[in-house]
Amino acid sequence: MEQVIVHMSMSLDGFVAGPNVGLERPMGEGGERLHEWLFAEPRDPRDAEVAAEMLAEIGAVVLGNRTFTVGEAQWGGATPFPVPCFVLTHVAREELVKGPTSFTFVTDGVESALGQARAAAGDKHVALMGADVTQQFLRAGLLDELQINLVPVLLGGGTRLFEHLGADHVELEQTRVIESPRVTHLRFRVLK
Ligand SMILES: NC(=O)c1ccc[n+]([C@@H]2O[C@H](COP(=O)([O-])OP(=O)(O)OC[C@H]3O[C@@H](n4cnc5c(N)ncnc54)[C@H](OP(=O)(O)O)[C@@H]3O)[C@@H](O)[C@H]2O)c1
Repeated sequence: MEQVIVHMSMSLDGFVAGPNVGLERPMGEGGERLHEWLFAEPRDPRDAEVAAEMLAEIGAVVLGNRTFTVGEAQWGGATPFPVPCFVLTHVAREELVKGPTSFTFVTDGVESALGQARAAAGDKHVALMGADVTQQFLRAGLLDELQINLVPVLLGGGTRLFEHLGADHVELEQTRVIESPRVTHLRFRVLK
């Protein structure tokens, strides 16, 4: 069944971007280190398999406006996911079509964004991008799976994935581990 899933490259100390994220540095200072496994030449076959699976299983994306704003310039004509994308934002704007990707700007909350993304994704998964957005989905009980690509680096600061989650206990079931020398791909199901 189609799931709501987040794939995040995360440092061992829990950061998904380095400090001082901005247009010049979409992943913050030192944050590009987190995606080295994706762009390495040659790429480890296990990492390549995980990347290919990620592309194949995603039918739509819900992302935060910060990920969109800092990523847009860097992505150029395409995006990491050539599928319909729904940008959660407080500022309404016209739909944007870029190559194989469309960006619809959603101002009426996570449930609305998810409903639109599910309709667009068909029988594929809906992926989340952005820490803030992922935290909202987790808090609302709307996240089904996490794929944490755990990178052996301590960034020391930046954007944390697991914060602002309140005091609720969130239980996860580990469903898969794929290891390469550069990164450990951990997959979890959120138990509800
Ligand atoms: N390591 C990885 O694999 C990975 C993956 C993806 C992204 N990233 C990085 O993560 C960072 C961005 O994450 P982030 O947590 O800072 O921000 P984010 O989740 O991308 O975006 C947060 C913004 O989205 C808008 N928003 C979120 N929820 C909303 C709602 N319910 N209603 C209306 N607007 C809403 C707000 O922007 P407005 O008020 O401006 O509209 C909010 O400030 C970037 O550095 C990006 O490069 C890393």
